[in-house]
Amino acid sequence: MKKKLTFLGIETSCDETAASVVQENGDGTAKVLSNIISSQIKEHKKFGGVVPEIAARAHIENIDFIIQLALKKSRKKIKDLDGIAATTGPGLVVCLHVGYNIGKSIATFGKKSFFPINHLEGHALSPSIENKITFPYLLLLVSGGHSQYIIVKGLNNYKQIGTTIDDAVGEAFDKTAKILNLGYPGGPSVEKFAKLGNKNSYILPQPIINRGGCNLSLAGLKTDVLRKSKNIKSKQDKYNLAASFQETVNKILRKKTTTAMKIFKENISSKTTNSFVVAGGVAANETIRKNLKEISEKNNFKAIFPSKEFCGDNAAMIAWAGIHRFKKKLNQKNETVKSRWPLDNKAPFLKGPGLKF
Ligand code: KG4
Ligand code: ZN
Repeated sequence: MKKKLTFLGIETSCDETAASVVQENGDGTAKVLSNIISSQIKEHKKFGGVVPEIAARAHIENIDFIIQLALKKSRKKIKDLDGIAATTGPGLVVCLHVGYNIGKSIATFGKKSFFPINHLEGHALSPSIENKITFPYLLLLVSGGHSQYIIVKGLNNYKQIGTTIDDAVGEAFDKTAKILNLGYPGGPSVEKFAKLGNKNSYILPQPIINRGGCNLSLAGLKTDVLRKSKNIKSKQDKYNLAASFQETVNKILRKKTTTAMKIFKENISSKTTNSFVVAGGVAANETIRKNLKEISEKNNFKAIFPSKEFCGDNAAMIAWAGIHRFKKKLNQKNETVKSRWPLDNKAPFLKGPGLKF
């Protein structure tokens, strides 16, 4: 019987210290033997956002323990591993260094291969941990730092067809939570309080909704939430504004996803049902999941979401990306830590003033 690959994954790109041991199942999916995530919510709560130096210090304090726990829970030893994968970018450089350095050291002394991994590739492959998905597929990656539509043609073969020209969707949720004082982390708080509000009470802008293909813009929406928040008179007003914000994000994603699906079909000819894969922290939002499922059915796509434990930052997706790269002999050995690392190098950089659609 063919040996099943087993990898240790390490993730420290932002405010989660995570380690995981993952084994391939042999059918295109993975068995997650352990998935340890230590969140730094308490450390950053009082600042209302992630402070890089505090995050890096917390990673340094916790990473050895988290890795040991992941190995212990998986009942594997370093000698049992086929490789070690660590997030190498994009992210906060001071934080990335922690996971990259310890991963590389363990690999060197354990005589194992070390795989530097792009965090976005981890998210892009995360839905296939639990679902058999064949390439190519349409990916919507929605996290705190990125919002992109990508045609995933294969491993290491990504075509970006849309991106945000200003704020990421998760960032808009975080800023709205801060404006409305709903608590930290922002996304889950907005979702929670939106349930208490009327989603049709405020009309908010949907920037570039009828132009710019499937590129997104959310800064104007957030600014209007700020403007309207000044006239809030009651808790109910606040919940109504949170609900209206979330509803507007949903409307934007419905329209832009429909456009992305059209572009996908123009680029890819396939005889089977196309897959639409949604990944990243925002993919945990129930209203967004429901909405995007509906849009997928309408456009003949099969919608696939990771379980919530694999939506936010985790190391299982990093180990899984390592296994994919090991199998294809595509180790990016020479990559070192970096803050910016697009999946599609040829994609235009769509930020800043003077941008016209
Ligand atoms: O993928 P992730 O854990 O980290 C990055 O790579 O950025 O995504 C974090 C983002 C944050 O902006 C967070 O507010 C958002 O995902 N998020 C949500 C929800 N859960 C997390 N946004 C909306 N609704 C949620 N339930
Ligand atoms: Zn992420």
